[in-house]
Amino acid sequence: MSDAFAPSHDFKTQLTDTVSAAFVAEGFDASAGRVNASDRPDLADFQCNGALAVAKQAKANPREVAGKIVAHFAGDTRLKSTDIAGPGFLNFVLSDSALSDRVNAINADPRVGAPAVAQKRKVIIDFGGPNVAKEMHIGHLRTAVIGESLKRVMRFMGDEVIGDAHFGDWGYQMGLLIVALNELQPELPYFDEAYTGDYPSEPPVTLDDLGHLYPSAAARGKTHMDFRDLARKATKELQAGRRGYRALWQHFVNVSREALKRDYAALGVEFDLWNGESDADPYVEPMIADLDAKGLLVDDQGARVVHVAKPGETRKKKLDDGSVVEVPSPPPLLAVSSEGSAMYGTTDVATIVQRQKEFGPDLSLYIVDQRQAEHFEQVFRTAYLAGYAREGQLEHAANGTVNGPDGKPYKTRDGGTLKLHVLLAEAIEKATERLHEAGLGEGLSEAQFADTAHKVAVAALKFAELSNHRLTNYIFDLDRFTTFEGKTGPYLLYQAVRMKSILRKAAEQGLAAGGILVAEPAERELVLLLDAFDGALKETYVKRAPNLLADHVYRLAQAFSKFYAACPVLVGNDAAIKASRLGLVTLTLKQLELGLDLMGLSAPDQM
Ligand code: ARG
Repeated sequence: MSDAFAPSHDFKTQLTDTVSAAFVAEGFDASAGRVNASDRPDLADFQCNGALAVAKQAKANPREVAGKIVAHFAGDTRLKSTDIAGPGFLNFVLSDSALSDRVNAINADPRVGAPAVAQKRKVIIDFGGPNVAKEMHIGHLRTAVIGESLKRVMRFMGDEVIGDAHFGDWGYQMGLLIVALNELQPELPYFDEAYTGDYPSEPPVTLDDLGHLYPSAAARGKTHMDFRDLARKATKELQAGRRGYRALWQHFVNVSREALKRDYAALGVEFDLWNGESDADPYVEPMIADLDAKGLLVDDQGARVVHVAKPGETRKKKLDDGSVVEVPSPPPLLAVSSEGSAMYGTTDVATIVQRQKEFGPDLSLYIVDQRQAEHFEQVFRTAYLAGYAREGQLEHAANGTVNGPDGKPYKTRDGGTLKLHVLLAEAIEKATERLHEAGLGEGLSEAQFADTAHKVAVAALKFAELSNHRLTNYIFDLDRFTTFEGKTGPYLLYQAVRMKSILRKAAEQGLAAGGILVAEPAERELVLLLDAFDGALKETYVKRAPNLLADHVYRLAQAFSKFYAACPVLVGNDAAIKASRLGLVTLTLKQLELGLDLMGLSAPDQM
C-alpha cells in the first residue's frame, strides 16, 4: 500500500520506520516494526507489539527483545519516553516539541498533512445508477453518497476521476413504458410506423405520468405474458432503431434525467457524465461479433451466453421436481436474449469497451448494491476473458441496504419505498425542529436559516450513511441522525460553526494566529488527530471505505470540543499562548472543513 503514495510524515510512519530499522538491526524481520496508535492513550501515544511475535519465533524472551529495540531510541528527541509494558509491548510517548514541529508542518502544508498518490491513476466511478421513469428512493441514497465521497477522496488524492451515473435508460423497462403508453394514447404519432414527419418537441408525458405508468406496467409484465411479449418486442424494436420509439424514448429520458438531476443537486451529488446504458448501444453489435469470433458465445435455448465459471466452479441447485443438480457458478452471462435483445449484462460489458476506448481507465469502480454481486462477477469475468480489461481493473465496491426498524429494506407505512425528495424534505423539517430546540440559528435571516437547515439535513443523511461501512446494513432513523449530539453530521457542523465563531471573535479583537506550541494534554490529543488524517485518508482510499474518514472527522471534532473546554483561546494574558491556540483552531477548522467536503458535507458560517 505505502509505495502507491508519496512519503508520509505522520508519526505512525516515522515511528514504524525507526522501529522496523531497529528490528532489522537486531536481526529480525522489518514487519515486526509496525507501530499503531496506542490502545491506552492514557499511557502512551503509540505502541508496537512486534517484539512478542519475533521473540516467540526466535524462542527468545520478548521483554529482552523489546529492550534491544528501545535502546535504538536513546537520544531520540521526538520521544518523551519509551517503555516496555507487560510481556513486551513497546510504548512511545511523543515529546511536546515533536508534536509542535509536526503540527506546524501540517499547518504550512496546503494539503493539511495528507500527501497525494505517487502515481496518479485514471479512475471511473460508476455510481448513482438511477433509472428512467423510476423516481429515486431511499435505496438510491447509499450508492449516491458513498460514490460522491469516494470520487472526492480519490480526486483529492491526485487521481483523475470521472463520475458516471450510468443512467438506466435501455432495455426491457423502456419497452414496458412504450407499450403502456401506446395503450393509453394510441393516437400519438410515435406509434404510427407510417408516420414520416417530425415528432412533437413537447414530451407527451410528465414525470408524474411516468411515475404511474412504470410500476403498473412492470407488474403487468410479470403476470400477463402477452403484455410482456409486446414489451419485449418493443424493446427489441427500440434497440433496432425504430424511429417513433427512439423519439418517444428520448422524451422519457429527458423528463427523467431533469428530475433526477434536481434530486441529486439537492443532495450535493454531481456526476461528470450522464452516460446511459443506451450510450453503450453502438458498441454492442461489434462486441457480440468479437465475443463470437473469440469463441466465447454459446447457444443456449435460443439465447446466447458466455460461460464464465471455471471448471469445478459449481453450486447445487434444486429443480422444480425436487432433484438437485450441479450448475456452474457464477452462472453464464446472458449476452443476447432469445428475442435478440441486449441485456443488462451486455450493456455493462459494452460499457467497459466504450470506457476503455474513450478514457482508458486504470480502474473502474462500481458502487452498487451487493445484491448485484453476481451480475458484476459475470460482467467482469466476461470482460477479462475477452481481453477488454486487465484482471483487477474492474472492481465492485458493494454496498448494503438501508433498513427499517424491522431490519428489512426500508418501506414506508403503506409498504412503498420512500422517495428521495420526500426524504430530504422530511430531513429538512426535522433539522429545522432541532435547530429551534437547541436555540440555534436564531440570529439568522430567513434565507440563511433555510440554507442552514438544508445543510444540517444533508449532513444528517450523508453522515449517517458514511459513518457505517458501506457493506453494513443500517437502520434508518431520522430522529437520531439529526441530533446535534453524538456521532452525527449535525454535531460535526456545529463544531465547525463554533470554530468559525471563535475565529470571527478573534478577528474582531485584532488577534492573529501564530506558531503552535503544544503543551496541554488536550492540545496533544488534538494534534495527534490532526497528524492521523493522512493515515485515515489513505485507508479510506485503499479500502474504498469513507467510514474511516467519517470516523476521523468525528474524532477530530470531539478532540476539538475537549480542547476548547480545557484550553481558553481568546482569554488570558499570554499573547503567545493565545496565538498558538488560535493557530490550532484555524488549522483544525481547515482539516475539518476539508474532511467534511470529502464526505460531501458543508458547514454554514453561523448557526
Ligand atoms: N440502474 C441499475 C439499477 O437500478 C444500477 C446500475 C449500476 N451500474 C452498472 N454499471 N450496472 O439496478
